[in-house]
Amino acid sequence: MANPNMDFEISDLWVAVAIFSITAVLTNIIRRRITFVPMSTKQFPPVVNGIALVGILLTVLTKGIQATIHNLYTKFGSVFTINFFGSKITFLIGPEASAHFFQGPASKISQGNFYEFTVPMFGQEVGFGIDTSTRSEQNQFIIDALNPSKLRGHVKPMLQEVEEYFAKWGQHGMIDLKHELSQVLMLISGRCLLGKDIREKMLDEFYTLFREVENGLNLVNLVFPYIPIPANRRRDSARIKLKEILSKTLRSRRSFGKVGEDTLQKLIDSKYKDGRSTTEEEITGLIIALVFVGKHTSSHTSAWTGACLLDNAKCLEVVIEEQKQIIGKFGAEIDYNVLLEMTALHWCIKEALRLHPATPILVRKTHKHFNLFTKEGNEYTIPAGHTLVSPIMLNNNIPSIYKDPGVYDPERFGPGREEDKVGGKFSYTSFSGGRHACPGEAYSYMQIKVILSHLLRNFELQLVSPFPKAERGKFALEPQGKVMVSYQRRKLLGT
Ligand code: HEM
Repeated sequence: MANPNMDFEISDLWVAVAIFSITAVLTNIIRRRITFVPMSTKQFPPVVNGIALVGILLTVLTKGIQATIHNLYTKFGSVFTINFFGSKITFLIGPEASAHFFQGPASKISQGNFYEFTVPMFGQEVGFGIDTSTRSEQNQFIIDALNPSKLRGHVKPMLQEVEEYFAKWGQHGMIDLKHELSQVLMLISGRCLLGKDIREKMLDEFYTLFREVENGLNLVNLVFPYIPIPANRRRDSARIKLKEILSKTLRSRRSFGKVGEDTLQKLIDSKYKDGRSTTEEEITGLIIALVFVGKHTSSHTSAWTGACLLDNAKCLEVVIEEQKQIIGKFGAEIDYNVLLEMTALHWCIKEALRLHPATPILVRKTHKHFNLFTKEGNEYTIPAGHTLVSPIMLNNNIPSIYKDPGVYDPERFGPGREEDKVGGKFSYTSFSGGRHACPGEAYSYMQIKVILSHLLRNFELQLVSPFPKAERGKFALEPQGKVMVSYQRRKLLGT
């Protein structure tokens, strides 16, 4: 991880949203006499306005954003609008309303310009620096590159990285699990996304520059991403140097006729519909974007899963028993098919991510009005210009879908229950859904399973620090502080 003082966490975005909201509410109070308007109209969702915003502000400050949205959901139902400073923010909660959020046509609902701050990080040639049709072709390159059918080849390098990394641990000791997992995940990204040549010769250099790109992202830059401050100058120069590293790698691969097994190679080989190949700038931008989006999400998820397992003796026993049975059936070797057998471990990761979604809120913009029917039986029109919010952390915790939603209970995904499936499409949205569903889902499960199965097979682990709280003051539910774990080497035998 980068210097914590400088490091921008994805979660800071949500802090920015909160700060912006608070400022706007206060401005609203000063500017005009405020009123609470519980909308009686049939046409538009209930609007939270005026003095009610002060109450919301107090709840945000005292109980946090999640509790605030939950209160509003209980009071107004699955669709409601917050109006502050003229900005209309409409929340769509639960599978029925989420279907519009995720599946609405791009002409009506899009990602808008919320992610424009990424342009100076990833470059003008990719993502939000380009037109939507080129962007969707580039998204397809990524989807193809991370397609589960292409991931088989990643298992071996992932295993090598994991074995090598944990071989450095002693016979017994104490570690910060959060730190260790983020380190090994960076090595895996280096190997599987960037490739062996970069992993072996320039990984430190790559990550030093990558951190400069990340550090250029701060609250000021969300609004003014191009102002000439030192952090932005370092960000821009780091991206140019990253491009040089990647260009050097591409040229070297070409001149030696080498073809990598990595995601970088898949982006190099990608072709637009008109037959054009991807440029060096585009490949650089896409690979920086992939490392960026994958880094925090996977680190947080693996750390939460580790903490949840070590805090739940029964769940830990179940996944250990599963490993013993798999070893008994397939031997100690792990390959793609063996990973698919780890269903109990899969549910444990999925459940950790249900309770602690790495991206707890998603946003979109409406360009044309649309109508929806709510679960409560109302028909509403959502006007053009509204910001739409899908609060994943609430969607994943609806009691009518998830029994005792606050309890870590991975078996809820197992046969006979399958609560997320019974709840209907969009009951579980930790990886988003529809057009922008995360293309890295299969890859993420794979790398987390490779790491955790290795730990379960080779170490007896105990959580020493208290079960972590979600980071206070941050919207993304990162485990707060260190996750201290004691370990003792052991070899799990098959049954
Ligand atoms: C546990 C790990 C992860 C979680 C929870 C996660 C979650 C998400 C979510 C919620 C979105 C949707 C954003 C939206 O709808 O606006 C997303 C998008 C995306 N994710 Fe992941 N992600 C994870 C790991 C990864 C990894 C490892 C990669 C790549 C190596 C990746 C690549 C992407 C990309 C490229 C998008 C953009 C898709 C688009 O806009 O069409 N993710 N991810």
